[in-house]
Amino acid sequence: MSAFFLLDGEAIPFEEGDSVLAAARRAGHYIPHLCWDARFPPHGSCKLCVVEIGGRHVSACATPAREGLEVKNNIGEIRDTRRELLIMLFAEGNHFCPGCEKSGNCQLQALAYDLEAMTPQHNYFYPDRPVDASHPDLLLDFNRCIFCELCVRASRDIDGKEIFSLSERGVNKRLVVNSESGRLGDTTMDIGDLAANICPVGVILHKRIGFAVPIGERIYDGEPISELDIAAATC
Ligand code: FES
Repeated sequence: MSAFFLLDGEAIPFEEGDSVLAAARRAGHYIPHLCWDARFPPHGSCKLCVVEIGGRHVSACATPAREGLEVKNNIGEIRDTRRELLIMLFAEGNHFCPGCEKSGNCQLQALAYDLEAMTPQHNYFYPDRPVDASHPDLLLDFNRCIFCELCVRASRDIDGKEIFSLSERGVNKRLVVNSESGRLGDTTMDIGDLAANICPVGVILHKRIGFAVPIGERIYDGEPISELDIAAATC
């Protein structure tokens, strides 16, 4: 017999080991996420997957599905919280979408459209971290990092290389390259590595293909990220 929890009043079946996010997604219900990826254990850093359970806000990616849970997902208060989190992510980095090569393929931008987070409400940090163009095939723009650590986890757990780490805390937190020089060109990073292809924003860019796919014809230009994510989960 299947076990169920309630998501906005609808019964969602789950399997042993499922998180609320994974079970909801498999059942065709979108919960926004930036740092979650099914290939890794939950990271719990972006908080975009916030839901309400028993009057508390928790991360759906890190909350095990349990019989009898009553989860609120698509309600105004939760959408407002997610929108505020997104706006703060935009304020922390240099996300100048119209001039960014990742525009249209960027999950942060796509979520902002989906959640209608259009209006700047905070002073921007305008970080000024040097870009790293030392690698023959890849460019790093650290000023767009949202600290999801997907590249860190992909390089360590899948590629077996540990190319990236996060350094320091708070406003000084930054993504760093684990080589003596601190430059990507002095590592064994390959353009085919998962870490080179997993960034949800515009930190890790491939050289020589800039704007090869025109703006307007990119992944999220045609359909909202919520629909594409559920299509990927349920196909
Ligand atoms: Fe759950 Fe980022 S997706 S905290």
